[in-house]
Amino acid sequence: MDPRSGPIPRADGSVTGTEDRVAGTEDRVAGTEDRVAGTEDRVAIHRRLLPRRGWLRRATILGGVAGAGFTADGFAITPYRLVESRHEIATPGTGAARKAPLRVVQVSDLHLHAIGRLQRHLLERLHDARADLIVFTGDMIDRPEGRPALDTFLAECPPGPRRVAIPGNWEYWSNVPLEEHARIHRRHGAEWLVNRSIVVPHGDRRLRITGLDDLMGGHPDADGAMAGAEPTDGHLLLIHCPALRDLPAGAVTADIALAGHTHGGQVAPLGFAPVRPPGSGRYVAGWYRDGATPMYVSRGIGTSGLPIRVGAAPELVIIDWSIG
Ligand SMILES: [Fe+2]
Repeated sequence: MDPRSGPIPRADGSVTGTEDRVAGTEDRVAGTEDRVAGTEDRVAIHRRLLPRRGWLRRATILGGVAGAGFTADGFAITPYRLVESRHEIATPGTGAARKAPLRVVQVSDLHLHAIGRLQRHLLERLHDARADLIVFTGDMIDRPEGRPALDTFLAECPPGPRRVAIPGNWEYWSNVPLEEHARIHRRHGAEWLVNRSIVVPHGDRRLRITGLDDLMGGHPDADGAMAGAEPTDGHLLLIHCPALRDLPAGAVTADIALAGHTHGGQVAPLGFAPVRPPGSGRYVAGWYRDGATPMYVSRGIGTSGLPIRVGAAPELVIIDWSIG
């Protein structure tokens, strides 16, 4: 036996190793108790965490369900939920003039590929709207294959109202010559306004309609569009990209400007639109009245990129304008 492992004699003849081992045994017992206590602590902690973990589990499940619902809504519901936004505005004039407002209906950013249920619903709403003037503010199609659908859509629009159209960026980027876009619109009775201004009657009043070229794809020219323009009772400005409003090339003073392009952000949960196309500038959707010309930015009808809309439903804009 190794003497180093045996008891160590003390001066009084007792042995220390036994006490140490006994002490060590007690320590181990204490350690065992500590571990038992530790286990109890863990059980207690686990019990305390259980409700929290339950909440996390429920939150995860709810999040998953909400995410699936969010995605399903974004792909299958909101893109087809056409919303009419109605507005009444009056520019200075007589009370009598306001008895016969001009009804302007704006159709923007159709991104038309085919006539589906959204387009059918839009056509129904257009027929019901009893518009005096329908304005198409660009991005009607974004590929050559869209031309037959555009032709059909314009043929099925109500025949009575005056029509005016301007190009958006996709009229330039669709691989269809700009003149062909113009021809399709003209074939269905629309005025094609590219840096051009026309005057149309409305009762005993005269309305100027100015359309500018697109900011992203074309060459907007406010001075060229307004050259020689005489004063009228009202002035409507049509632009595709709202950012043009803040640039010299878009510096046309009018009673109202109508724009599109942004799709309201297209994915705008809770009204927050983190991504908008170049040319949107500081604009998302709705009225902007901070400058000389109040501007309404439509969310448009179709989609670009992914066929998804969240918090930015398709919009048909109807404005009753009492022109003084
Ligand atoms: Fe656009």
